[in-house]
Amino acid sequence: MKIFLDTANLAEIKKAVEWGIIDGVTTNPTLVAREGAVFEERIKRICEVVKGPVSAEVTGLDYDSMVSEARALSKLSEHVVVKIPMTPDGVKAVKTLSDEGIKTNVTLVFSTSQAILAMKAGATYISPFVGRLDDISNDGMKIVQEIMKVIDNYGFKTEVIVASVRHPMHVVQAALIGAHIVTTPFKTLEALFKHPLTNIGIERFMSDWHEYRKKLTGEN
Ligand code: E4P
Repeated sequence: MKIFLDTANLAEIKKAVEWGIIDGVTTNPTLVAREGAVFEERIKRICEVVKGPVSAEVTGLDYDSMVSEARALSKLSEHVVVKIPMTPDGVKAVKTLSDEGIKTNVTLVFSTSQAILAMKAGATYISPFVGRLDDISNDGMKIVQEIMKVIDNYGFKTEVIVASVRHPMHVVQAALIGAHIVTTPFKTLEALFKHPLTNIGIERFMSDWHEYRKKLTGEN
């Protein structure tokens, strides 16, 4: 399973990359705006740090703007994946871009039917937003399960990025389902490390070790 970081914050990305567990990054207009960064510059910097797929989203909503923005974004780095919203124009743009060899990530996927269309158009990745579905009392992970089944049935090459992750159990559930990728905010990535018994265990081992050393050396 691949883990992407869902952020445009360079400090977070650098830290996670140093841990050696990050395969890529996803951004969106909200995340870039939160950083107050110049979009293209920030995407280039992220690509230098990560050296894996980095999703950068188009902001135009009609076919022509999406395709021309996507072509420009794809020139920023070989790692750029162009994020395209799940609309009829978006799907049409994905078809054109995939024919040109430009990698795409169809975003804002909330149903299996949308996923089928994006995959038919040749999307490299699709991003079902599980957290936002959970937020409105739908089962986000059920969609992921269904999409994985469709991929299994028909052998689509598209990879599923479980997105809009809110907590560690989303990551675990995505892994149990067998989704290709999960993209997680830094806070959730940090939370994945945590277990109180690990801390208690370390404290006990250290205190036993210090007691034993004291006895050996006769020091207090
Ligand atoms: C994914 O690519 C999106 O950037 C992200 O997961 C959206 O998450 P949110 O619902 O927490 O905004």
